Amino acid sequence: MKLADNKATLSFSDGKPSIDLPMYQGTVGPDVIDIRKLYGQTGMFTYDPGFLSTASCQSAITYIDGDKGELLYRGYPIEQLATNCDFMETCHLLLYGNLPDAAGKEDFTKRVTNHTMVNEQMQFFLRGFRRDAHPMAIMTGLVGALSAFYHDSTDINNPQHREISALRLIAKMPTLVAMAYKYSMGQPYMYPKNNLSYAGNFMHMMFATPCEEYVVNPVIERAMDRIFVLHADHEQNASTSTVRLCGSSGTNPFAAIAAGVACLWGPAHGGANEACLNMLEDIQKTGGIAKVGEFMEQVKDKNSGVKLMGFGHRVYKNYDPRAKLMQETCKEVLAALGLENDPLFKLAMALEKIALEDDYFVSRKLYPNVDFYSGIVQRAIGIPVNMFTGVFALARTVGWIAQLNEMISDPEYKIGRPRQLFTGSVKRDVLPISQR
Ligand code: ACO
Repeated sequence: MKLADNKATLSFSDGKPSIDLPMYQGTVGPDVIDIRKLYGQTGMFTYDPGFLSTASCQSAITYIDGDKGELLYRGYPIEQLATNCDFMETCHLLLYGNLPDAAGKEDFTKRVTNHTMVNEQMQFFLRGFRRDAHPMAIMTGLVGALSAFYHDSTDINNPQHREISALRLIAKMPTLVAMAYKYSMGQPYMYPKNNLSYAGNFMHMMFATPCEEYVVNPVIERAMDRIFVLHADHEQNASTSTVRLCGSSGTNPFAAIAAGVACLWGPAHGGANEACLNMLEDIQKTGGIAKVGEFMEQVKDKNSGVKLMGFGHRVYKNYDPRAKLMQETCKEVLAALGLENDPLFKLAMALEKIALEDDYFVSRKLYPNVDFYSGIVQRAIGIPVNMFTGVFALARTVGWIAQLNEMISDPEYKIGRPRQLFTGSVKRDVLPISQR
């Protein structure tokens, strides 16, 4: 963090003395005003619900330029990573800051695959859930429960514990997601196969049965891998900030990641891919493309409470670059499976076309986000709609872990403790119950 040449001066209209606030420059992107001493100097807090103008940390992992529609992991554009690298390389990049060479990749992949199995007891824990439980409810429980099984990697202040918990989480998430799916289907769990790729092994654990091998279609394997790469990190989004805040108390990494899973579940965040697919299916059921205009009128009517799911983003005010890549993958997968005329894909394209030309969306800078197409890809692959967010959580785990470990290694890190503007009652006395 580099001190900027200029300072910010905060002045008050009521004659209180003004104060100077230091400013810092990042390598790229907006400067920040350091308000850490504001309360000490003025007795005042800043007010920023939703963190619209607040940088909660310094980070060297992911950079987004929302106006340009640019996403960089450790400086590398997402388009180049999605085209030239696989998920294991991306994980290495996010965790350690550099892309591995061939030997480094092999070594890292071995270290991950070493941990793909979960403690056999986990299946008994899983049995406590109803078969129709939402997979994200199960995932929140399972990920948190890992801390009950891996006691040698729960000390967040120990770098070796952090390293081993990172590898364990990346390796075990596909196993847990697949177990949640198999449990809901009443099918036996499939053990991981370490000779398969990360994506291929996930497909195997999801779709193989003890009586039938699952032969991985390379187009689908590549699509799955791309979904993982595109969702791997996204700087200080809601779930990542949750992981950082949770981890800032010194809790163990499994508990912090479980908090991230819980946050991701919401429809305004990772749950949007499920909500988007449900929306497309609802429109399809009620008349399909012919009803698109009517649906859009509802979206634009503020009183309807209807949103175009998969559209809009807090940071991207231009196209979400991941959406472009996902649309490309969507076309490839549908072609490989002979589903070029998939009605939901056609519907999504029709909605996108209208939205991109409609003043409501254009004036608010609302564009498709990654989830607009990822649901169609996953559905074509055979992943049930309620598993979509679990797949997102699997992919985002590496980002959460990289951000958590970065925070713990930052000498400036403190327990996260926001303040508030209190608007409740002033001090008052409790009356005896007969007088209330
Ligand atoms: N459909 C219709 N209107 C929308 C949409 C949408 N999808 N998104 C935003 N708007 C409107 C808002 O109503 C608001 O209108 P107003 O200015 O007239 O009041 C304006 O656009 C700005 O929207 P905000 O909600 O203030 O934007 P914010 O940055 O807070 O929200 C969010 C971003 C939560 C992603 C929002 O766009 C949304 O709910 N989208 C749908 C859900 C979704 O797809 N989420 C996935 C995000 S990506 C991810 O997590 C991987």
